[in-house]
Amino acid sequence: MTSPAALEQLRDDLGALVLRHERARSVTEFARYADDLNGFAALLGVHLWTKQHEVWQAVHDHRLVRVRSAQSVGKTYVAAVIIVWWLLTHAPSKVIAIAGTEKQIRDQLFSEIRSLYARVEDLPGDVHVQGLELGPDHFARGLVGVETGTLTGFHSRHLLVVIDEAHAVKPFVWDGAFRLVSGAANKILAIGNPGPSAGRWFEINQSPAWHGLTISALDTPNLTGAEPAIPELVSQVSIDDLAREYGIGSPTFRSAVLAEFAEESEEQLCRRDWCDRAIAAWHSGAFEPLAQGQPLTFALDIARFGADHSALAVLQGPIVRELLTWHGYDTMQTLERLMQEVDKRAGLQGRLRVSPAKRAGFGKLPTIIVDAGGGLGAGPVDALHRHPVIQELGVPVEEFNGGRAANDPRRFLNARAERYWYTRKRLELGQLALPPEPKLVDELISTKWGRNERGLIKLEPKDELRLRLGRSPDLADALSMAVGPESRYSLGCSTAAL
Ligand SMILES: Nc1ncnc2c1ncn2[C@@H]1O[C@H](COP(=O)(O)OP(=O)(O)OP(=O)(O)O)[C@@H](O)[C@H]1O
Ligand SMILES: [Mg+2]
Repeated sequence: MTSPAALEQLRDDLGALVLRHERARSVTEFARYADDLNGFAALLGVHLWTKQHEVWQAVHDHRLVRVRSAQSVGKTYVAAVIIVWWLLTHAPSKVIAIAGTEKQIRDQLFSEIRSLYARVEDLPGDVHVQGLELGPDHFARGLVGVETGTLTGFHSRHLLVVIDEAHAVKPFVWDGAFRLVSGAANKILAIGNPGPSAGRWFEINQSPAWHGLTISALDTPNLTGAEPAIPELVSQVSIDDLAREYGIGSPTFRSAVLAEFAEESEEQLCRRDWCDRAIAAWHSGAFEPLAQGQPLTFALDIARFGADHSALAVLQGPIVRELLTWHGYDTMQTLERLMQEVDKRAGLQGRLRVSPAKRAGFGKLPTIIVDAGGGLGAGPVDALHRHPVIQELGVPVEEFNGGRAANDPRRFLNARAERYWYTRKRLELGQLALPPEPKLVDELISTKWGRNERGLIKLEPKDELRLRLGRSPDLADALSMAVGPESRYSLGCSTAAL
């Protein structure tokens, strides 16, 4: 049953609608703003910052406009202003607004349009959750990716297609959008963050057919101080947080703040699409049957410098079960934490409670690998060897020192290069599942490799990577240690082929 409160609300809404219809100005009054953007902004009572205004002007002047942008700079807001301007100044006209998810369309784009309508009482048209209606051939509709297979029949002399979150839409959306904008006065505005250096959005960003704009977070009013601040936009503190979390040279920071596409080059150890595929495999569970019953490998990279984190990778067959980091512990506390993590996943205490004959029921023993390079020496490894639980159960503990000789010294400069190389190969061949950890992806795609004068595979010195990334590649170090110097686990291909 409908509650009295709901009825009351409905009556209010209807009342507001009727009032708007009675008060609304005729749409013909707005035609004079078709070339007067400042006048229209004043009419809406909005103040746009410089780049927002440039985007609007670009849509006015050009047929195909793409905006590559940092996060939280006011992209969706300006898209909302442009949609209202287009509809009110061109009669009849249509706007098809497309985004990756319903949330983006309803809660962001059309919610901004609703706010604009709430400011000015006498604007003609009705705003719905994902539409703005002015007449049978005069409307804006919001579509999400799945619906856009039906992107036909929306032709109009004045058609504007707005693609918000352009980095996230599927290829068929681009095809549909191009089919729609057949008329000379039809336009596309595509707005998105930079993503991988491949795919339609990347190609569009290279294409001279599009008028391109770039908006870095560093250009925004709150950062430059050169124009009035807009408190809702990106702030210096949020950028500082991202810099600390990911490193200023990291692909995440470059995309989210500087609006740069990730560079992909020959010397890059791993490609982003390999990492994305590995993360998809982690979510889908496709490798579960291959992981079941396989022993766990725990690889620990111990922090040596104040800002570094200790990192632990837990691998089972082709699946990275977990990546953990912590800092502020001394070496002994770190080893204690390691033992807790091993116990949690491999049931060390449980094994101790039963007689040795029954321990096989707990599955194969895990292997622990600890980085003993970089000044800590073999101390932590020795301490683990002496640990009563390790001794009692006979848990294998291996020492890793990246600077030492590789297992295959005819191919690799050192053990570090060798392990990273096999990590790369597993990712390239689609033989690893990775948890969704952007920092790990940043580290893997930022690492560079090359060959020395003897043709041996080497990695760029860690200090150089640390300088570029703005932090140490702790997670990738732990992961590569866990993946191992050769095929610990293989989906049927020999390491000689890697
Ligand atoms: N010119 C402006 N005046 C007042 N508020 C604004 C202006 N531009 C944007 N905002 C507000 O700032 C916030 C962020 O804007 P918006 O959502 O458009 O950014 P975005 O770049 O689309 O962000 P995201 O990267 O999350 O998609 C919103 O609350 C929006 O209403
Ligand atoms: Mg947005």
